[in-house]
Amino acid sequence: MCGIVGAVAQRDVSSILVEGLRRLEYRGYDSAGLALINNGELERFRALGKVSELAKKLNAEQPGATGIAHTRWATHGAPSESNAHPHLSRNRIALVHNGIIENYKEIRENLLAQGYQFESETDTETVAHLIESYYDGDLYAAVFRAVGQLQGTFGIAVIASDNQDTLVACRKGSPLVVGLGIKENFIASDVSALLPVTRRFVYLEEGDLVVVNQNGYQIYDSAGASKELPINTTELSADAIHKGDYKHYMLKEIHEQAKAVADCLEGRISENNVLDSVFGPDSEQIFKQVKQVQIVACGTSYHAGFVAKYWIEELLGLPCAIEVASEFRYRQSVVPKDTLFVTLSQSGETADTLAALRNLSIDDYCGSVSICNSPESSLVRESSLVLMTRAGPEIGVASTKAFTTQLVSMLLLAISIGKVRGLAEKIIKDIVRELIALPRQIEQLLRLDKKIESIAEDFIDKHHALFLGRGVHYPIAMEGALKLKEISYIHAEAYPAGELKHGPLALVDADMPVIVVTPNDELLEKLHSNMQEVKARGGKLYVFAHQGAKLEKSSGDVVVEMDCETRWTTPILSTIPLQLLSYYVAVQRGTDVDQPRNLAKSVTVE
Ligand code: M6R
Repeated sequence: MCGIVGAVAQRDVSSILVEGLRRLEYRGYDSAGLALINNGELERFRALGKVSELAKKLNAEQPGATGIAHTRWATHGAPSESNAHPHLSRNRIALVHNGIIENYKEIRENLLAQGYQFESETDTETVAHLIESYYDGDLYAAVFRAVGQLQGTFGIAVIASDNQDTLVACRKGSPLVVGLGIKENFIASDVSALLPVTRRFVYLEEGDLVVVNQNGYQIYDSAGASKELPINTTELSADAIHKGDYKHYMLKEIHEQAKAVADCLEGRISENNVLDSVFGPDSEQIFKQVKQVQIVACGTSYHAGFVAKYWIEELLGLPCAIEVASEFRYRQSVVPKDTLFVTLSQSGETADTLAALRNLSIDDYCGSVSICNSPESSLVRESSLVLMTRAGPEIGVASTKAFTTQLVSMLLLAISIGKVRGLAEKIIKDIVRELIALPRQIEQLLRLDKKIESIAEDFIDKHHALFLGRGVHYPIAMEGALKLKEISYIHAEAYPAGELKHGPLALVDADMPVIVVTPNDELLEKLHSNMQEVKARGGKLYVFAHQGAKLEKSSGDVVVEMDCETRWTTPILSTIPLQLLSYYVAVQRGTDVDQPRNLAKSVTVE
């Protein structure tokens, strides 16, 4: 899951490519590189680390009106300059690649036998040599032939030193768009890379190849037949991704949550109901049939789905299963008749989630719904019913506002299904009223910022942390633990609090912070007992207590009171202090908050 960008223009393109890479860094930031054709020669620049390292090496605009560039998230071969893309073959072909070539070893053997020399440990270099071995001046023909031999999922872009005005790109399993300018054209992994230069895009379909020149482009399908695709004008804006006065995108995005939730609700609810049109005209028919719900997602989105399972079963009385996409996609699952398939994804490009959707035998399901934050993503384009979360661009790798808006969206989904299945008006009204109050309550909770910043100091030297929750707050504890581990690198685990005594209690001592969110619900007393089990073993509790759910404070405990009284939206509110805690712990430990090591924002490979 790397980012690729390419350009064919009448002007030098290195700065366009670098800016494109910066905008694609969410896809990986282990290394970056670009190649340009300058007077019939390929010139390559590569750097280990982020795009800013590459930019330092380039120093100024480099000559070359045709080029390709890449930001890498390492799969085959360690992050290093020699493994960084573009990869060259005999100084004639330069290639960038996103994805995985599964049969690269056998192709490599053949190429070695033909005398090709390999400089990297990547699967990508194999493709560069393979194309070179077929290249006789017709770049399209060489790429077409090579791609026919490749197994796996990939997006590639290729240039040839003696083909000054041509770039060939191909998409199989990795997203790729063509950006249309005036006497200049581009390709990229997604539209955000090219927003500074164009707003007009063509979305390539699976298996498509495209030949891009200054004056136009031609698309071919996987059989080699030329084809046309619609031109779309994006509404995304080029400058929606600035940090403003915030130190990190993550902090900005945490603070944007009140607005994000309000945007998510706008035009979708009345004073006491959810509007009929929210999931589109076909939804009523589908929702009437639903007898069971299957949710599939990854990471934070999986946690949102897990919370929704509690809501759907309680509100609708329907069985609801939740599974991580990487497991679901390879399993023979039993699908009862009239199951609704729901995917959740911030990016809409997560490979496992997309594969789960694509593998569906649609006859087994009464319909599919995607809850997504990226309007122009593959998931949105391939799903029948869609609800956009409208969180706005989320740049920090740690998901924050995407999560809270996913939760809001799942409540909208539960109510929308409930409306056609006789869910009591009183309950709908109660939930909608809580939803309306959410943005204001989130603003209030964000005022805990300073207090949580000082609590975070306790965690600077910790190596482990335990998050506990019960019921619908168990997945919230999981999300709290994920947030802490991914940005602060503290090992954090979440447990249903009732499970503590079945093993994890053995870990509890004075060095193990135990973080608990206490909602004022029917499980409160049980949760208090679990907390006493921690105290009795010398553990230190950090309690985020909703109104009316304050435990009797004993010495050493840290208690943060959350001044809101809610029933349905409680897990959404509980998330806010946990996000702030992780953020401040990471800042105080000096980690790279927005781009934590080894991760990428969008996981477009398995
Ligand atoms: O784009 P998606 O929501 O499909 O991404 C799923 C996960 O990769 C993502 O939530 C990941 O776990 C985040 N880094 C968590 O903060």
